[in-house]
Order: sequence, then C-alpha cells, then structure tokens
Amino acid sequence: MKAFIVDRYGKSGSVRFGEMPEPELRYDDVLVQIHAASVNVLDSKIRDGEFKLMLPYRLPLILGNDVAGVVIRIGPKVRRFKPGDEVYARPDKDRIGAFAEFISMNESDVAIKPKELSMEEAASIPLVGLTAWQALIERANLKKGQKVLIHAGSGGVGTFAIQLAKYLGATVATTTSTANVDLVKSLGADVVVDYRKDAFEKILRDYDVVLNSLGKETLEKSLGVLKPGGKLISISGPPDPDFAKDMGLSWILRQVMGLLSYGIRKKAKRHRVSYAFLFMRANGDQLREITSLIDSGIIRRSWIACFRSNPRRRPWFTSIPDVQEVRWL
Ligand SMILES: NC(=O)c1ccc[n+]([C@@H]2O[C@H](COP(=O)([O-])OP(=O)(O)OC[C@H]3O[C@@H](n4cnc5c(N)ncnc54)[C@H](OP(=O)(O)O)[C@@H]3O)[C@@H](O)[C@H]2O)c1
Repeated sequence: MKAFIVDRYGKSGSVRFGEMPEPELRYDDVLVQIHAASVNVLDSKIRDGEFKLMLPYRLPLILGNDVAGVVIRIGPKVRRFKPGDEVYARPDKDRIGAFAEFISMNESDVAIKPKELSMEEAASIPLVGLTAWQALIERANLKKGQKVLIHAGSGGVGTFAIQLAKYLGATVATTTSTANVDLVKSLGADVVVDYRKDAFEKILRDYDVVLNSLGKETLEKSLGVLKPGGKLISISGPPDPDFAKDMGLSWILRQVMGLLSYGIRKKAKRHRVSYAFLFMRANGDQLREITSLIDSGIIRRSWIACFRSNPRRRPWFTSIPDVQEVRWL
C-alpha cells in the first residue's frame, strides 16, 4: 500500500512517499480504508525524533495519528463494527500510521464518525478532542461554576477545549493573538486575553484549572493564576514521574523526567497547586461521547474550518515532497 514513511529521524524532507506492506489484522482489530488523515504537531515531533526515547518506534515507520475512513474487514472477535461502517480514531500510540491507504486498529480505539462531518473534518478531531477530554474531564474533573484558563484557544486543542469546558458549565478564559479574538469568542470563551497586547498573569486570578500547551515561561506564569488547590495541567511538558510510570518507562527515564519537571513541581507546591503532565491516549469510548456531542451540535463545526486553515500547520504539509494535503478519496 502507499504510505508516508519515516526511514530516519530528522527535520524537513525526511518523510518518503513509498510502498509498505498492508497492516496485519488481529483478532479484535478493524481494518480501515483511510479516506482522510489530519496532521498534528505530534507528527512533526515524531518525525524530528523528539519522541524516540518515549516512543521507541521501529523504523521504517508510517506516520499519522488521526484517521477517518471505512471499515473493510474485521477480526473474528470484533463486536462493535462491521464492514462499511464510517469510523474515525486516534490509533494507539504503538500502532500509528494514518498517512497510508489502510490501518488496523483495535476496535476499542475506534468510534463511528459524526454523521454530519466529512471524512476530512472527522479526521481532524480524535487527537485534539481526546486531549481536551482527558485534560478537562479525566484529569481536572472540571465542574459547573469552576473557572478554567485554556491557553492557545485558537489551536487544535484549544478550539475543542473551549467548547467542551463551556459544555461542562465552566467559565472559560483563553489566550490568543489579535487575529483570533473573534474566533475564540464565537466558540464561547468568556474572557479573552490577546497575548500581543496584554499579560494574562496580570489579569486572571483565582482559577481552578489551567490547561497549558505553550512553553516554560507561560507554564510558570500560569501558577499565579490558580487559586490554592488549583490544577496546572500541561500537554507541552515537561513530563513528570507519574507520566513516566504510566508509560512503563525505565528507571533511568523516570529519573530524567523527575529532573525535567522538578522545577515546576517545586514551584507548584509553593503555590499550593498541583502540576501534571498529560500525554493523551487512544480511547474509543471517549471518542463515542465526543461523536454524540458533535452530532447534537454542542461541539460545533465552525472550529474545524479554523483548524484546517491554521497557517501554523502549512510548513509541515509543505515539508512532505509534492504533497499539500494528506488525503485519499
Ligand atoms: N501531550 C499531549 O497529549 C498533546 C496532545 C495534543 C497536542 N499537544 C501539544 O500541544 C501543543 C498545541 O497543539 P495544537 O494541536 O493545539 O497546536 P496548533 O493547532 O498548532 O495551535 C497552536 C496555537 O498556539 C497559539 N499560540 C502561539 N503562541 C501563543 C501564545 N504566546 N499565547 C497563546 N496562544 C499562542 C496559536 O494561536 P495564535 O495564532 O492565536 O497565536 C495556535 O493556534 C503542541 O505543542 C502539541 O504538540 C500535546
């Protein structure tokens, strides 16, 4: 089958369009013919080799962490899907490979795609939607009446997280650039801080939760926004020892991650708040709940257009030779 392949980790130009064997179908797998795949920041980080210690893939590797397509075959133990079903998924981290013609995934990682969405729109959702879900619902246990700061509200994760937090009944503040102020307001943000004009840490106080997807400086400034007992959840690092344990990493890597997050954990303690790093995971049950939020209009389609036209993604697309869009129809 055709696929985008990483033979060797490294920056631009190291993704090859070539032939790979079709994936094997395990007992509880569905084999999906891929109609669309979306590109995430994670793909470029994997390609660059930034994740090779945490995710030691065997090369050559087919890239791609978000997929929408049609089930064409099922393993003998599959109960939830049948050939012909239109599905979407974030494949398990150990079985990525959405930039290809076919992918096999465990049925527990897959969900029926939202009815009204095209394949391309559906493929843009699983990774960012599950990240927002796992941060706000699983980790933060965000409740009605609480206050949450979602950094980078105009990004893939941010646009989803704003809508999810509003659905949960929280008051939402977000940071964004001037050009995207109207967009994040239209998604429901109550307080919008234009980071080109204002410093969020001088404006926001007594928040219950901060979802960080930016760098160290923003992470540290976010501590002052939280009330005692508040939760700082970061998806952009640094990784912490609990994450290393959950990933089953070696003793050495656990120590490394302890050291990497030592500073922020210590500062968080001083502020009487908690710090946690989240690395999202595949989850078909949560994706099914996301499908029903989209089908019922709670998560609106409007954000997807912004997601797809996000200029920050273009350099990555254009770094794949001759390909502007990862799409087979
Ligand atoms: N750990 C995990 O499981 C996980 C999962 C998903 C993503 N991530 C990570 O989370 C990060 C964001 O991912 P994404 O998919 O949402 O990226 P994205 O779609 O590229 O969005 C990034 C956004 O950051 C905004 N931004 C840049 N500088 C900013 C600043 N100083 N203040 C506020 N906003 C700023 C940009 O908006 P403006 O144009 O308005 O500036 C842009 O929309 C990436 O580093 C990604 O690797 C981690």
